[in-house]
Amino acid sequence: MNNTTPNPILILGGTGKTGRRLAERLTAQGLPVRIGSRSGTPRFDWEVPATWGLAMQGVSAVYISYYPDLAVPGAAEVIGAFARLAVQNGINRLVLLSGRGEVEAQRSEEMLKASGADWTILRCAWFSQNFSEGFLVESLAEGEVALPVGNVGEPFIDADDIADVAIAVLTEPGHVGQLYELTGPRLLSFADAVAEIGKAAGRDIRFVRISHDEFTAAVAAHDLPPEFAWLLNELFTEVLDGRNETLTDGVQRVLGRQPRDFSTYATETAASRIWSN
Ligand SMILES: NC(=O)c1ccc[n+]([C@@H]2O[C@H](COP(=O)([O-])OP(=O)(O)OC[C@H]3O[C@@H](n4cnc5c(N)ncnc54)[C@H](OP(=O)(O)O)[C@@H]3O)[C@@H](O)[C@H]2O)c1
Repeated sequence: MNNTTPNPILILGGTGKTGRRLAERLTAQGLPVRIGSRSGTPRFDWEVPATWGLAMQGVSAVYISYYPDLAVPGAAEVIGAFARLAVQNGINRLVLLSGRGEVEAQRSEEMLKASGADWTILRCAWFSQNFSEGFLVESLAEGEVALPVGNVGEPFIDADDIADVAIAVLTEPGHVGQLYELTGPRLLSFADAVAEIGKAAGRDIRFVRISHDEFTAAVAAHDLPPEFAWLLNELFTEVLDGRNETLTDGVQRVLGRQPRDFSTYATETAASRIWSN
């Protein structure tokens, strides 16, 4: 008798913003998944390469969401090492979650390609969910967001769209060797985004532009690690300099539909009262 149960798809960052949504979608379609994270079984830790081999044993494909961020120097070497190990273990199908306009993220993409894998790259804009599942949620609930960023437009993308694209490229043919640049349908400044969230939440939430030094001091006052301040400063100063102020058609190319608008995200998320005081 043939064993028809497919091998699981390993989802790195499988409890995070995009990974959790991808795992839910695959499971709903009856497809087996393995969560790759420090809380997964077996445990997967980017900082402990000895955990990688066991986590990838017997899987058919890997969705690679790196932590903390592909913008961190050295991320490309880690992605390269992981991808080569996967290929050595006979796992060729690798899908990388990447970021737009980031030197180290684009180096990571090249490392993935050089590994010999059947690759697909999802090069994404800032996630809308950074406002509800990331570092901004607390300040929004407190009623004031202070960031070292001015009037730069960012085409925020909804993590639900990324998960829809990810399941399509992992389960349908025709996506090997493709790079999809994924943005939302509209450019918003951070001040615009905060204003939309305030409107959806039915309360006044202020946006204040601060200097990098003020931001670094604020991060330190919250007892967050200095690397975190470095990363955010890098993202706000280097990457949010206008280089990503364009819309792309990646979501349409894969899904044949428009990406979700930020206002839909804000309205739906506000209903959970996460931004209420
Ligand atoms: N956020 C954005 O706007 C954005 C935009 C473009 C690209 N990206 C890229 O997307 C990737 C994910 O970013 P994100 O903000 O969405 O984070 P996220 O997926 O929400 O991060 C959390 C996930 O990472 C896991 N994790 C944490 N530390 C880990 C470790 N040492 N080893 C293995 N897993 C670990 C967590 O599980 P455990 O706690 O169980 O380990 C959890 O599943 C990054 O590489 C980033 O460059 C993000």
